[in-house]
Amino acid sequence: MIIALVNSKGGVGKSTLAGNLAAWLHEQGHSVILADCDAQKSSSQWVQEAKPDIQVFHFANSDEILDSLPVLRDKADYIVADGPGSQTETSRALLMWADLAVIPCKASMFEARALAMNTAFVRQAQAIRNGQPDAIAVLTMVGRDYRLTKDMRDAAASLELTVAEAPIGLRQAYADAPGQATFVWKMGSSARDAAEEIDALFRELLPEACTENVVPMRRVRGRKKRANG
Ligand SMILES: Nc1ncnc2c1ncn2[C@@H]1O[C@H](COP(=O)(O)OP(=O)(O)OP(=O)(O)O)[C@@H](O)[C@H]1O
Ligand SMILES: [Mg+2]
Repeated sequence: MIIALVNSKGGVGKSTLAGNLAAWLHEQGHSVILADCDAQKSSSQWVQEAKPDIQVFHFANSDEILDSLPVLRDKADYIVADGPGSQTETSRALLMWADLAVIPCKASMFEARALAMNTAFVRQAQAIRNGQPDAIAVLTMVGRDYRLTKDMRDAAASLELTVAEAPIGLRQAYADAPGQATFVWKMGSSARDAAEEIDALFRELLPEACTENVVPMRRVRGRKKRANG
């Protein structure tokens, strides 16, 4: 299965989600390839360092994606493709082969127009490919302003685009994990909320991929009950 993280708007969390998703799938016992289609190579450097078992490929332009992505399809259970922030042709090429397009978008006033443009790309691909790829938007870097979140959900609804129930919050742990060559569910109690929400998101996106509890159970606080007598 090819999962493409696409949004031609920069800095919305594509690479953050791509790296975490590739590692999460690997920890579920699947073979995973990370296809880094961004010249900055941020997700591939992070994953190579933090989880060297995941194979990494780089694609520099849309021709390479159109030619090579289908060849990778048979080489792993999941191909996670991290799209670039600006080159729209590269994002469109990814949509030609993806089975699932995940569109991360910040809950912010400036994102609605970008969401409309990206949804248009998805619709074009779906028209060419008989309805493929499935597409879902994910709200990222969600702060405490509930109204903005609602505005983004309304904007997506008006585009008839599904939005994942599980949002990703604005949390320092996501920004810190690559620098520490790790993933949020390995960062202990300070990153607990991030670990739980990203696990909930990936379970929602790919229920068939879940085999393991990647996030350790939350320890229940309180005194142990004494046995009677
Ligand atoms: N949920 C989050 N909370 C806090 N910081 C985040 C979150 N997600 C991403 N970031 C940080 O925001 C910045 C942009 O994220 P990221 O690189 O994942 O976006 P991108 O969409 O891949 O950007 P580009 O389009 O440039 O490739 C990074 O510094 C990252 O660490
Ligand atoms: Mg990126």
